[in-house]
Amino acid sequence: MHTTVGIVGAGPAGLLLARLLHNAGIDSVVLERRDRAYVEQRQRAGMLEQATADALRAAGAGARMDREGMPHHGIELRFGRRAHRIDFPSLTGGRSVMVYAQTEVVKDLIALQLAHGGPLLFDAEVTSVEGADSDSPAIRYLHEGREQTLTCDYVIGCDGFHGVARHAIPASVRTVYERTYPYSWLGILAEAPPVYAELVYAHSERGFALASMRSATVSRLYLQVPNGTDPAHWSDGRIWDELDARFATDGDPGWKLERGPVTSKAVLPMRSHVVEPMRHGRVFLAGDAAHIVPPTGAKGLNLAAADVIVLARALALWRRTGSTRLLDAYSDTCLRRVWRAEHFSYFMTTTLHTDPAQSAFETRLQLSQLERVAASPHAAAELAENYTGLPLAH
Ligand code: APR
Ligand code: PHB
Repeated sequence: MHTTVGIVGAGPAGLLLARLLHNAGIDSVVLERRDRAYVEQRQRAGMLEQATADALRAAGAGARMDREGMPHHGIELRFGRRAHRIDFPSLTGGRSVMVYAQTEVVKDLIALQLAHGGPLLFDAEVTSVEGADSDSPAIRYLHEGREQTLTCDYVIGCDGFHGVARHAIPASVRTVYERTYPYSWLGILAEAPPVYAELVYAHSERGFALASMRSATVSRLYLQVPNGTDPAHWSDGRIWDELDARFATDGDPGWKLERGPVTSKAVLPMRSHVVEPMRHGRVFLAGDAAHIVPPTGAKGLNLAAADVIVLARALALWRRTGSTRLLDAYSDTCLRRVWRAEHFSYFMTTTLHTDPAQSAFETRLQLSQLERVAASPHAAAELAENYTGLPLAH
């Protein structure tokens, strides 16, 4: 079998790329190792930058997002037992974000691709990507009990952090930059209406907490916990008590979360990771296959979308004119934005969490930085611009 663009992985990166290519008249095949139900249920973040929401609309996958998604015009920061709102539109010249779960984005893109698109194969595990330096790279995969080969003009590795495509970039030219963090997140989904209108990010003496939402009736909440925490050691009651303690402020002592049945509970590690370059020969990496950010700031899905928007434009230019100019610029174009998001995610993470080894001096520095964001429109604008997403060219 041969296709123009072979895509490894049906996460948001692979699926959005397939849609953008379809709309540009370029054929593709998507190979996904898991089954459809697994991919559609994997819990991830749920905050879309304006450029990501626009790309989903342009891909024809914006209708349900526009009906059910929740536009948010700010976030709340809590620290020192006080609350401060960061207003996005006034600080960024009108930008906002959309709260809409990644699981829903993935469902919408899969439905569209299966109805009007090239092949999207589930239970198709890619074992290797070969011939990056040749004119016709090949993807080897296992499907329906047989080893099969897909030859392509280009291969795009959208296969996430544990994928195989990045191994097509020889170790001699590949550099990995990485940082791990001395804490994790315990994330829950609860059938409880959010009592907060916007996302709440809390720095507290007891550690970080985040209140997000999935709908008017479902809350998504996170607590900083030590690495290696077993979620079974956190009863529902203990989780709710700890959340209330970390969000507590002196200005509104009665503020409490609305409690409800906890339907999912998991511990997520925190990591920063970048692979350079993001392209070798005819193999390109996009999304988590090339970079991971810690979830504070919710940049993962947005970076994945930005990569494939840049890539789809580059492939469209190549298809129209034969020029590889934008393909040749792909890695540098994306890495500029990736490193900005890496810095922002690192900043949000290290400013809001309590490192178990942190001194009282370092806690004072965190609080001083947060005070600065609360007091200075310039400092707040820097946060708001990064949070809502820098323009794609950056
Ligand atoms: N063969 C086929 N598919 C594979 C293989 C393989 N060898 N290895 C991994 N995959 C699939 C995974 O099963 C997964 O469905 O690749 C897909 C990668 O999807 P994601 O991990 O969701 O990555 P990406 O599409 O880049 O989306 C980035 O995901 O982790 C979050 O925060 C991140 O929101 C961001 C988004
Ligand atoms: C989420 O809704 O899951 C979410 C939102 C914002 C973040 C991280 C996660 O920074």
